[in-house]
Amino acid sequence: MIQRSLVLLKPDAVARGHMGEIISRFEKIGLKIVGMKMVWVDKEFSKKHYEEHVEKPFYKGLEALITLGPVLAMVIEGVEAIETIRKVVGPTEPKGAPAGTIRGDFAHVSYDYADAEGLGIKNLIHASANKDDAKKEIALWFEDSELHSYKNVHDVHILK
Ligand code: CDP
Ligand code: MG
Repeated sequence: MIQRSLVLLKPDAVARGHMGEIISRFEKIGLKIVGMKMVWVDKEFSKKHYEEHVEKPFYKGLEALITLGPVLAMVIEGVEAIETIRKVVGPTEPKGAPAGTIRGDFAHVSYDYADAEGLGIKNLIHASANKDDAKKEIALWFEDSELHSYKNVHDVHILK
């Protein structure tokens, strides 16, 4: 039941100075960061990470967005963490993302606006969608030696 998920703070989140606030949200709900690094990905790497979207009309804009600057890549662990993290992240389109979610609180653009401008949707964050994606994405972004098993307060106050 303890799962790990790949979370990326995309270049828009990094450039806007929201890394700390977003990391805090995950820490506050008792999830554990077990890996973290900054990576500036190129087009080739983007195509690997977003393999399922490469043929889609919005891919060009998405690739421009994800390669715009460094991302903060993290592996975050917790009880059924994949679903919990997606809940905290919110739905893809910021316009419809509920207040309280990261995408609802830090962005507001719509699909219509992004499509009309030929832009990728700047929604600050990526999180693995399911167990298979999490496994694949963690292996793509992190070496085993970059991931750490350790105890923190959550092990005492939340998990037991
Ligand atoms: O990130 P998420 O899993 O919520 O959405 P996705 O459908 O897997 O799409 C990946 C990313 O592509 C989104 O987070 C957006 O940044 C971007 N996207 C876009 O620019 N325009 C779309 N119509 C759909 C997605
Ligand atoms: Mg996705």
